[in-house]
Formats: sequence, C-alpha cells, structure tokens
Amino acid sequence: MPRSLTAKLIGPPLLWFLLSAATFPSATSAADLTGRWLNEETVPDGNTTQIVIVFQQTGSHLGGKIIFSWGELRISNGSTDGKTFKFDLMTPADDKNPAKYEGTIQGDELQVISHWPGNNNTAYTAKRTSNTMGDPPARIALPALHPVPYNGLAATPPMGWNSWNHFEGRVSDAVVREIADAMASNGMRDAGYIYINIDDTWEGKRDAAGNIQSNNKFPDMKALADYVHGKGMKLGIYSSPGPKTCGGYEGSYGHEQQDAKTYAQWGIDYLKYDWCSAGRIYRNEDLRAVYQKMGDALQATGRPIVYSLCEYGMDDPWKWGPSVGANLWRTTGDITDHWSALDYTGFAQNDLAPYAAPGHWNDPDMLEVGNGGMTDDEYRAHMSLWALLAAPLLAGNDIRTMSAATREILLNPEVVAVDQDPAGHQAKRISKQGDLEVWARPLSDGFQAVGLFNRSAATAQVTVRWSDLGLSGTQDVRDLWTHKTTASVRDGYSQLVPIHGVVFLKIVPVK
Ligand code: GLA
Repeated sequence: MPRSLTAKLIGPPLLWFLLSAATFPSATSAADLTGRWLNEETVPDGNTTQIVIVFQQTGSHLGGKIIFSWGELRISNGSTDGKTFKFDLMTPADDKNPAKYEGTIQGDELQVISHWPGNNNTAYTAKRTSNTMGDPPARIALPALHPVPYNGLAATPPMGWNSWNHFEGRVSDAVVREIADAMASNGMRDAGYIYINIDDTWEGKRDAAGNIQSNNKFPDMKALADYVHGKGMKLGIYSSPGPKTCGGYEGSYGHEQQDAKTYAQWGIDYLKYDWCSAGRIYRNEDLRAVYQKMGDALQATGRPIVYSLCEYGMDDPWKWGPSVGANLWRTTGDITDHWSALDYTGFAQNDLAPYAAPGHWNDPDMLEVGNGGMTDDEYRAHMSLWALLAAPLLAGNDIRTMSAATREILLNPEVVAVDQDPAGHQAKRISKQGDLEVWARPLSDGFQAVGLFNRSAATAQVTVRWSDLGLSGTQDVRDLWTHKTTASVRDGYSQLVPIHGVVFLKIVPVK
C-alpha cells in the first residue's frame, strides 16, 4: 500500500528528540483535537502533497480518519492526554499490523510520527485548518464491459527493473540513464531484464490542452525513451486511473486516451496503472470497467504496451485481468524489504496457480533483492519463490552499486530459466510440515522445479518425496543455486535448509 511521500524519513536521533519534546511543559494545553489538521509539502520536483487528519475527540478517546491523496483510512485505538496523542491506522495491505501514529500537541500544531509496518519512522507537522482537501471530482460514467483483445505481449513474465522499491521519489532522468547503462553492461539486459520502469513521481502538470507533462526531474521523456531503446531495452511508466497517484501526483482520471497517446508518442513500452485515488470515486465492483478503459486506450494507440494492473489484489483481478487487456495484475499489497512481508505475501499465492498463463501473470509485487533488509539466504528464497510463481522479475534495487552476491542472485541463469519457462505454469505447494514447505512447478521439458523452503527461525531438514511429485524410481537432482547434480536419487531428497532459506532443485527422471 502507498506510503506517504510527503513526510521526511527520520533516523533514531531525531525521533528521540521529538519523543522527548513530549515531556516539555510548554507543549501542554488540554486542547480538544476535534477538527481537521493539514500537512502540506512541496517537494523539489514541484509537486505538492497533502495529508489531512480528521480528529473526533470524546473525553480522552480519539476517532476520525486520515485522508491521503490516494484514499482514506480510519483511525482506531486513538487516545489523547491533552499533550500527546496516539492511534492506529489499519492499512489495506496488512490486516494484522496497523500503522502506528503518535505525537505531541503544540497549540494549533501537531508533531506527528508515523510508523508503517516495514518502513522507517516518518515525522511531519500538521496545522489546524478548515481545508477539506476538496471533494473528489464528479464520477465519470463507466463504459459497458466488453473483452479487450490480448495485445500479444509478455509471453513469459516481464523482466526488468522498477524505480519504486529503492528510489521512491528520488528517481530521475539521470538515475534511469545510469541504470540503463549498468543493465546493458552487467549482463542483466542479456539475461532478459529489458524493461526499465519509472514508477510514481515523474508526473508534472497538464498543459492548456490537458496533455500530461513530466516534471523537472524528467526534462524530456521522449529523449529518455530513445536513450533506453538505444541500449536495447524498453521504457515503462506509471499512472493511476484516479485524479491523483498514490504519491499525490497527477493521475489519468478523465484523460485516459490522451495519456495513452502521449505515452505512445514518447515511446513508452509498459504501463503500471495504480488504483490509488480511484478509490475516492469508484467502488470495488467498478475496477474491471475502470481498467478496461485504459486497456482500450492503450490498444487504440497501436503501440505494443505491456499493461500492468496495480490494485493490491482487490476484487480478484486474476479472474478478469485478461478481459481488460492486462498482461499482469497485482495480487497483494506492497512488498517491503523484510522477511515478514515476503513470508506473509509470497507463500499466500497457492490458490492463484490456475490463473497464470502466457501473456497473463499474477504479480506478487517487485523484487527487493539487494536492498539490504534481508539476508542473502532470504533473497535467494525470494528469487526462487518468484521463479516458481512465474512472477514478473522486476529488480527493485540500485543496479549501479549492487554487490557481487546480489548480482549472482538476480542473474542465476538456471533460476531465471524456471521463471521464464514458456509453458507458464505457476507452482503449487505440494507439502507442508509446520514452517517447512515444498513447492513444485511443472516445466515445458516435462521435468519439475522444486523449492524446499524453511520459513522457521532455525535451520531445518526439508524433504521432498518423489511420490508427492507424482514420480517414482530414480531421479537426477540438480541444485539450481550450487549448480551441482546428484545422480540417481531414490524415493526422495532431503537437505538442510538455512533459516528463511531455500534449496531450489530441478528433478530429472533417470531414463
Ligand atoms: C502504490 C503501489 C507501489 C508504488 C506506489 C507509488 O503503493 O502499490 O508499488 O507504485 O504506489 O506511489
């Protein structure tokens, strides 16, 4: 789910200062917090974002909501002692771990510290306001449903890079060019990582004719596309069907055809289309028609553009994604660079296997490999699970400075080959003993890729039995990470698997 871009990330010392400020007597005044509190920030690319906290105070109890550009979340467990306040926000991405908010009250100003699961603390100021952030624009009627023809793209899961996981709002023309240079020379392009996808925060204002323009971080999008194409790669972009993107930038609402044409003129090859503030106008049952609108608009341009839906799995997009012309659809909330996020979403994909097929993929979100929040064992499990799930492989790290270990994980040809297997079958869980799981994916050569996963917090022996794979007799076992083959193995195969790690195998029957 969207993280707020407006507020600065802060480290522990500043957090400590802000928390200790809560004890200063001058911060005291038994205020009634009922009302609206506005945080407004303009970032260097010229975009202004707003967050409005709406409090309703009854005694020491605090209720209300927070309005972000992409939607509203309800406040729960809120309380105040007149000097400080705290509350929880249940985020759509994770119904177990709420975002935690706390802060101090200084007259007509709040010092707010938020902690979203998997993210650093964020601090900002909110001032008392009568600003209502405006009602969302009027609802534009939606077209009748009809099938959008398949665009013929993404015969195997898309591979490339996306700016969001590492760069968030710091992506720029220069970053994209340097990433393209790195990918063209470090083997990634040649291994199949060809899409370079700019995520949120590239958008500027519309011109007088309503044409979307890039902001000052991207002086010339067409020139950038030419540059990326010149390196033998493709360029992707991002927008929302709502008036605002999740980061609070200009969305495509009411400009779908115009924006699709602009993208085609620039030479764009991939669109990630993120629900965000469409949720302020439309309901969940409208998702299909909303996404169909852009599906039609992309096809009308005549340019082959991969169409990637981002709707956090709302309304089962795997059931209707192909009918709106989509090549992939998100099945989960946002990944973060922590084992808990991976563990929570990655292993929850079992039921979606029937919906993956060439041209149409389940998308459990982009890779975090190399971003530093997990061990290399965890990153190998991440990469192996994504390969088994036939998931898009969109690296989300800083390719320019990645370590040799990260490069080896992203570029392992035997693992990439499983992901890119042309039959496009998605793996299923074939056995589970507590936190030890075996997943298997049938491959086009008739053999099987098998992952032995250890989700527990201790090294453990994990076993795959041939009978669970529908096999008997002896098998050659190829280890896709050590690149070694154990010949003629009977009945099954056991290995010690590190904490949160994987042993990733290809099983080949001995003739
Ligand atoms: C949402 C998406 C993310 C990213 C951000 C950008 O949270 O799910 O993948 O695109 O928006 O604001």
